[in-house]
Amino acid sequence: MSAHDTTEPNRRDFLYVATGMVGVVGAASVAWPFIDQMRPDASTLAMATIEVDVSALEPGMSLTAKWRGKPVFIRNRTDKEIEEAKAVALTDLKDPVARNANIASDAAATDSDRSAGEGKENWIVMIGSCTHLGCVPLGQAGDFGGWFCPCHGSHYDTAGRIRKGPAPENLAVPVFEFISDTKIRIG
Ligand code: FES
Repeated sequence: MSAHDTTEPNRRDFLYVATGMVGVVGAASVAWPFIDQMRPDASTLAMATIEVDVSALEPGMSLTAKWRGKPVFIRNRTDKEIEEAKAVALTDLKDPVARNANIASDAAATDSDRSAGEGKENWIVMIGSCTHLGCVPLGQAGDFGGWFCPCHGSHYDTAGRIRKGPAPENLAVPVFEFISDTKIRIG
């Protein structure tokens, strides 16, 4: 093997390393614009909060809004539906926790702590995603007159509490507030 032969690979290694370094610098310079694109733009931020006009909902009616890619059920409950929900003993509930993002995380699943609260107890606002495997339950349906998930047969009452079937938790209540008598902001 000649001296020339032994130096050849070394030079090639050097060239390879130098090329590699250029590659790293190049990657760093394109990383920032890429991260910048991942920041939410104004329209995405706007979707973080939605306002829903509920003026058309008479007692017994409901609507489904879309918020952050999920359905949100808003229902104006009848007096009878409220009374039925209030009459249920907490000991009869499969999930005794309110699951209401607007109040303490350990609050009990009373009807008033599931609803929009004092003076607005007829209103209930919930994420429309079954707590079993995420199907969208049907409103005004099921053995308890609330919601029914046909995927595997989960029955929720008129306060959105799981009463029968495989779902483990009550339907979640998202952060929301009435910003006027007829408008709800979610998020
Ligand atoms: S996803 Fe609703 S019962 Fe299974």
